[in-house]
Amino acid sequence: MKTRASATKKFGILTAGGDCPGLNAAIRGVCRAAHDRYGMTVIGIANGYRGLIDEDARILRPEDFAGILTRGGTILGASREKPFRKEAGDDEVSGDKVKAIKENYRKLGLDCLVVLGGNGTNTTGYLLAQEGLNVIGLPKTIDNDIVGTDRTFGFHSALAIGTEAIDRLHSTAQSHSRVMVIELMGHKAGWLALYAGVAGGGDVILIPEIPFDINTIARHLEERIAGGKSFSIVVTAEGARSVEEEKMDKKERKKYREQFSSAGYRVAREIEKATGLEIRSTVLGYVQRGGIPSASDRVLATSLGTAAAELLARGEYGRMAALAGNGITSVDLSVPAGKVKPVPRDHYMIDTAMAVGTCLGI
Ligand code: F6P
Repeated sequence: MKTRASATKKFGILTAGGDCPGLNAAIRGVCRAAHDRYGMTVIGIANGYRGLIDEDARILRPEDFAGILTRGGTILGASREKPFRKEAGDDEVSGDKVKAIKENYRKLGLDCLVVLGGNGTNTTGYLLAQEGLNVIGLPKTIDNDIVGTDRTFGFHSALAIGTEAIDRLHSTAQSHSRVMVIELMGHKAGWLALYAGVAGGGDVILIPEIPFDINTIARHLEERIAGGKSFSIVVTAEGARSVEEEKMDKKERKKYREQFSSAGYRVAREIEKATGLEIRSTVLGYVQRGGIPSASDRVLATSLGTAAAELLARGEYGRMAALAGNGITSVDLSVPAGKVKPVPRDHYMIDTAMAVGTCLGI
């Protein structure tokens, strides 16, 4: 097949931050389109930005990105290396890692670097672009909290896993007339807990964007019992916090939180104290990030990946491929850089949850 003209001849690709389902689908999307349509050479960089610092890179050939569409994790490996972060004890960023990245980028002969990651990864991508590198970003995370895209890949798969877990807790909660608390990931945002909570019919949903009042939750659970419903499901985001915690200063809050291994146990203890009901907690953890991507994430990751290849071909650097409505677009890397997208208080899903009788702790 005759390849088309391309501004980019050779690019590096890396996956940074926490992994998620759909990363391999996105790698395949970028590499297939870039290689097959445009004849670009692909350099796979191992373990996120760490591999670029250590020059841990290899040529990816078509057989390397074949058969990976449905695989979980990332064939490239990932790390939470942040080259612009200050090391513990240092007053400022040493600059050594950034220097190494710039040197290796040149040494590898890259025309561009494609970075697949969340807020941190795209922020680093933006900063590297400021340093003169050509960078293209892709939005991945189960947290769905990247500014500039309507959705991130990984979110839909984690949502399906979270929903299935809530479904399974329902039957055991009912059998034992218990309150079941389930903690979902999401970092500082409540997207995952809110969506899985609505999909799984959670009776209470707690998200970081809405500090909860334990008395409101207690009242809601007691009213359910009075109404003949002997069990309840409480879905909490890992970042959820109470109005009481909100009033504490940082030190106080840290001390209080240290008593519990995570939000799920903290919330369970508070409900138990306020109601005397029998509570059990489940922290779903990394199960949410593992395994095969959902069909929806495969489609999104493939579309965003191939869109990134088009940006490479046109030489449109410094951008992040993004979902806007039903279409794929791109935004300047400054749009997601340094930001987190919380659930807006007026988001329709908040009203949807409340309209079906779900307590949001307010
Ligand atoms: O950003 C994805 C995520 O899974 C968050 O939901 C969670 O807070 C965090 O990563 C966990 O990070 P780590 O993999 O470093 O434990």
